[in-house]
Amino acid sequence: MTDVTRIDTVRLGGQDGPGIGVQGFGAMGISEFYGDTDEAAARDTLDAALEAGVTLIDTADAYGNGANERFLAPFLAAHRDEVTLATKFALERRADDPAYRGIRNDPAYIRTAVEGSLSRLGIETIDLYYMHRRDPEVPLAESVGAMAELVREGKVRYLGLSEVTGPELREAHAVHPIAALQSEWSLFSRDVERSAVGAAAELGVTVVPYSPLGRGFLTGSFSDATKDLTGGDFRRHQPRFTGENAERNAALLDPVRKIAAAHGATPAQIALAWVQQRASVHGLTVVPIPGTRKRSRLEENAAATRITLTGAELAELEPISGLVAGDRYMDMRFTAVSREA
Ligand SMILES: NC(=O)c1ccc[n+]([C@@H]2O[C@H](COP(=O)([O-])OP(=O)(O)OC[C@H]3O[C@@H](n4cnc5c(N)ncnc54)[C@H](OP(=O)(O)O)[C@@H]3O)[C@@H](O)[C@H]2O)c1
Repeated sequence: MTDVTRIDTVRLGGQDGPGIGVQGFGAMGISEFYGDTDEAAARDTLDAALEAGVTLIDTADAYGNGANERFLAPFLAAHRDEVTLATKFALERRADDPAYRGIRNDPAYIRTAVEGSLSRLGIETIDLYYMHRRDPEVPLAESVGAMAELVREGKVRYLGLSEVTGPELREAHAVHPIAALQSEWSLFSRDVERSAVGAAAELGVTVVPYSPLGRGFLTGSFSDATKDLTGGDFRRHQPRFTGENAERNAALLDPVRKIAAAHGATPAQIALAWVQQRASVHGLTVVPIPGTRKRSRLEENAAATRITLTGAELAELEPISGLVAGDRYMDMRFTAVSREA
């Protein structure tokens, strides 16, 4: 084996939570969105995760419409005790209409969704169960109440929310303790800092930044999604990654490259070190979940947990997010910030 960084551990959701690696793994891209997957390479990447101490594995019922959970089942069967498994409900998809996307938060839907996830994953209990998106038409207390029942029944251990505002996080936490808030957070996407991060710090909720590599853009591995990525790639339709926006945004990576060179690191590692260091800035526990289909990148990403950026470097990176051209989603109604004044 090569010299692999063994990452540190933190407690999920505060003092009483399970110990997890300080960086997790996002499994989404194995099944969908970012190009084709070699399944053997993806299995090897999961093995590399455990070797590095990356134990929080993140999936959702929506990823590949169940395929991502099914892909993880043999891995979980072999390593159940070593993994903290997180999955999510709320993004409804329909087998007979591949383009359909709905948001469902009603208790009856949650009950059906959890049974589907448990069955596809081949496990008896989900360690961390997230509401993937909020439907503002359904009272939050009703959804979190239904999730809390799943905890009482032993189907779920800890609860999480994704893309909620600070006030929503507080409201949910009053119904049942919330262990984790998962939201997009990176050098390019900092709207979570408006209200959600402060509430998480106050309540002892672990923040799990998703897309911490800006869906790969921050690594410099592509600059214009329409030209550099293949047909089915989700990023070809995202406002920030195409045309004039992409050109402007690619230029914002110059300081990231410069700081990477100073550390003998890659831009990906600097992007990850930056989001990890937000923990000390905000008095939080932060567990980013970069996604990759390759062992070498998993190891590279894990090694980023050893990088400490200086105050001057943080200051140089500070203005980037304010200069980004284009929204982070084609349809921003699916984000928490759309519900913030
Ligand atoms: N809650 C939500 O709504 C939500 C939304 C999106 C994502 N997520 C979760 O967050 C996880 C991570 O987010 P993400 O996958 O969207 O984006 P990300 O982690 O920011 O970026 C993933 C992309 O970066 C590439 N990459 C990874 N490491 C790299 C490295 N060291 N050098 C160069 N390229 C690298 C990957 O390509 P390769 O595979 O080719 O390495 C992939 O295309 C997902 O897997 C999912 O579990 C949650």
